[in-house]
Amino acid sequence: MDGEWKRVAVPLLCAAGVSVLLLKWREQQKVKRKLQRAREKREKEIQQAEKAISLFKAQNSGVDLSSIVTLPLAELSQKIRGGSLKPDAVLHAYMEKALEVHKKLNCGTAVLIESLKQLEDIESHKDGLLYGIPVSIKDNVDYKGYDSTCGVLTKLNDPAIKDSVVVSVLKKQGAIPFIKTNIPQGLLNYECSNPIFGRTVNPCNLGKTCGGSSGGEGALIAGGGSILGLGSDIGGSIRIPAAFCGICGLKPTNNRISVRGLTSCVKGGKTALSAIGPMAHDVESLALCMRALLCTDMFTLDPTVPPIPFNQQVYESTKPLRIGYYENDGYLQPSPSMSRALRETKELLEKAGHKLIRFHPPQMFTAINEYVARGNLADGGATLLEHLKPGPVDPCLQYQAKHYGLPMFMKRMISLILRPIYPRMAALINATCGVSSPADLWKQHKVVEDYIQETLAEWEKLELDVLFCPMLGPAYNFNYTGQLNSALSYTALYNVLNFPVGVVPVTEVTAEDEAQLKHYTGNYRDVWDKTFVKAIRGGVGLPIAVQCVARPWQEEMCLRLMREVEELSAKNKHSKTHH
Ligand SMILES: *[C@@H]1O[C@H](CO)[C@@H](O)[C@H](O)[C@H]1NC(C)=O
Ligand SMILES: *[C@@H]1O[C@H](CO)[C@@H](O)[C@H](O)[C@H]1NC(C)=O
Repeated sequence: MDGEWKRVAVPLLCAAGVSVLLLKWREQQKVKRKLQRAREKREKEIQQAEKAISLFKAQNSGVDLSSIVTLPLAELSQKIRGGSLKPDAVLHAYMEKALEVHKKLNCGTAVLIESLKQLEDIESHKDGLLYGIPVSIKDNVDYKGYDSTCGVLTKLNDPAIKDSVVVSVLKKQGAIPFIKTNIPQGLLNYECSNPIFGRTVNPCNLGKTCGGSSGGEGALIAGGGSILGLGSDIGGSIRIPAAFCGICGLKPTNNRISVRGLTSCVKGGKTALSAIGPMAHDVESLALCMRALLCTDMFTLDPTVPPIPFNQQVYESTKPLRIGYYENDGYLQPSPSMSRALRETKELLEKAGHKLIRFHPPQMFTAINEYVARGNLADGGATLLEHLKPGPVDPCLQYQAKHYGLPMFMKRMISLILRPIYPRMAALINATCGVSSPADLWKQHKVVEDYIQETLAEWEKLELDVLFCPMLGPAYNFNYTGQLNSALSYTALYNVLNFPVGVVPVTEVTAEDEAQLKHYTGNYRDVWDKTFVKAIRGGVGLPIAVQCVARPWQEEMCLRLMREVEELSAKNKHSKTHH
């Protein structure tokens, strides 16, 4: 009996084992082929674009493409409008430059060959505010016929059936979206790397991350391959790559610019809402882009957007302002260069006649742990993990994915053990448990609403027009962002508050800043504070920005402060180098 059982069972078990292995292997092969096809598609588009560029050059041997890409946006726009530059030359010039930059930084995910077709009737958009201007867009901004991959397998081979509202409006204004740019896997990370397209690196230092999630945009624009781009921001995703790469970026109030046609791996969350905004070399380009997008076409295509056109008067005003500021938010001690950037900017603004007023963002510990982290992970990370399931998880994301995937009781246990020694880590880990019931979710929404009112009341009490504060920097070494969500306090606060906020580069890391890192202890002296120092070490020469903030819906006021900061710091640099 015993022998007979074995005779039947052993081969059966073996067969079952072999078929499980076989299935697993087949699944892996399928994933590999899918990744391979996506990369081949990108290669094919690049080849097509290269062919188009050669053809254009052969037919227009008198046109110097390389000089076109050195013009600032305002001047480029003037030359196209005046007729001394043709839109086709400009598009081919930027395509050529973008491909060159991509080869160095790996910042593109798709070349939009359709953009060449747009040239056929571009003349009919002559009155558009962005007539003939090539524009880059982040991977997750829908463009008809192309995947919005978000760096995950679940979104491959699922091309957008129509243009997002922003792409439609850009086209109506005469702009030509011509390339899509790289992102971190799932978009909820700030190192720009995913298993489909690989890692994008920083043009200022190839050994550093360009930041994310709009990392491809930051790298491409700073590298000179695009003059204007659109990113999205839910915790710092426009501001971080802009600051890490040394360009400007604006995160508007959510839905000032339509987010219809913006793809995401965490749709449904309501605590922090994603906003689409422009990235460019200077503040004037951001303002031009906002002016172009805030038009009747957008308000008609997306009636949920409040029909508020750009207020040029507020943007151009020169009346002295009451400006709030803080140097240390109490959560992340700013790096030495972040502090110096803030203090120098404060001095310049004061000298320019503005009134500077010290501000304390209320309840930072609770705001970051309970509102930002618990709000963004109300589902315990389940929605994001669902998108990561079918394929390999990027090394940059493994720390987060492992952590979010832990059973609830484990997270609570770890949090309980850490609480007496590392209160910040305990609270943040506990927050990744999310909320446990619809009633809890309502409570979560209520406390955030109250927090927004509390902050606004504080602004009111101090009669602030605007505020400025440090911006995370300098750019990190590789593989650190996943362990440093704690460093998002300066940026993510303004997503939960839903205030418009932008970054302007004001200085570069000096040897003195780098030396000061020796004395950096952090506000909490925990593992994360130590990790932060390792992440930013070796940053001499890298750009450092500050953040400018305004009340909800006051993008023009925010841009006004940004423009002033930009002018003052440029003047300051100029006078320093001439002394
Ligand atoms: C974790 O958060 C819950 C609220 O969701 C709270 O009741 C509990 O005390 C927290 N635990 C620790 C260890 O902080
Ligand atoms: C980052 O992680 C990847 C994958 O684990 C590894 O190949 C690479 O060497 C790491 N880079 C650094 C600088 O540690």
